[in-house]
Amino acid sequence: MQKNESKLAINKLLAVCRQQFEPKYGRLEKLESSRDNVVLANKINGVVLRIGLNKSITDTKNEVTLLKYMADRGFPCAKVLGMDTITYIKKVLAVTVFENISNDAHVVSLSTNSKAELLGAAATLAKLHNITLDFCRINSFVQQRNLDDPLIQFEKCLLTKRHNTSNYTEIARATNWVNRFWKKHKYTAKPNVIIHNDYRPQNVFFDQSNVVKAVIDFDWAIQSCHPEKDIAHAALEWSMTDGAKVLDWGRFKLFCKTYANVINRDIGVNMNDIVGWAKFAAFIDAVHYFNCYPERTAVRFESYMYDKYTYLTKVHNGT
Ligand SMILES: Nc1ncnc2c1ncn2[C@@H]1O[C@H](COP(=O)(O)OP(=O)(O)O)[C@@H](O)[C@H]1O
Ligand SMILES: [Mg+2]
Repeated sequence: MQKNESKLAINKLLAVCRQQFEPKYGRLEKLESSRDNVVLANKINGVVLRIGLNKSITDTKNEVTLLKYMADRGFPCAKVLGMDTITYIKKVLAVTVFENISNDAHVVSLSTNSKAELLGAAATLAKLHNITLDFCRINSFVQQRNLDDPLIQFEKCLLTKRHNTSNYTEIARATNWVNRFWKKHKYTAKPNVIIHNDYRPQNVFFDQSNVVKAVIDFDWAIQSCHPEKDIAHAALEWSMTDGAKVLDWGRFKLFCKTYANVINRDIGVNMNDIVGWAKFAAFIDAVHYFNCYPERTAVRFESYMYDKYTYLTKVHNGT
């Protein structure tokens, strides 16, 4: 979709949402719109409506069940106030209603965030894995999203690009590495936990004392026996800004160490190849972007996350 068309589509969706939800929640302002969600808020009533553009109703219901389970056990996440649906261009979209957590909370940027926030974020990620160990024993957290499909879809797309994109060979080599890495690690006897899959500074809110107030955006959360993917992805995102040329290894290691001090031993986290996992995570994220925007890869495959993959490849042995 062209930019103008997508803007038009979002505006139409906003109009439909306002018509349906303003009688109940009052005037709704657009907070954000991304390729996966449109987020609306009424700051006076303290409600946030999140409309999922790419996630089924069943998967969203499962996400809500998970969020309620975690909130009941004291995990800091935005309280779910309800769930609804909206029909837009013959498609039924899930709407999750959250409490607005941004009134007295803030996110931090890597240039300003202090050590305290990094430590809090790392410990909270371990808490997420600890709390959901039992959740996964009792429930089967079914989500259509998984770690395999984006790669499979991307490999199909890659075949059609071989004559046109300038860095095709390099990308094909990276895909090979990621496939080998995944084959080596995919099957393991470790228990499942919930991995967040997008644990970036933008998705962690802090209160005035810089304590984690709420983790948001469980859109990509899945059940997995690979918490290493989550730790590595998060440590990378908390130590390397998008567009940065180098990673802050002090922060990366501190993130992993803090996590390791809090994580339940039963989960059996293995930190031995955490940089390999960071490479894997960065490439999977880039692949998702390439899959979503095939038109942007016509000349060259480029993305911030692919740059991070390339950077890590230079410092990682065994590539
Ligand atoms: N419960 C909430 N309270 C306040 N702001 C929120 C809440 N949920 C989302 N937002 C805002 O909307 C943005 C996008 O929401 P998010 O759930 O991260 O979706 P995505 O990043 O997938 O588009 C967030 O970065 C945040 O600014
Ligand atoms: Mg987000």
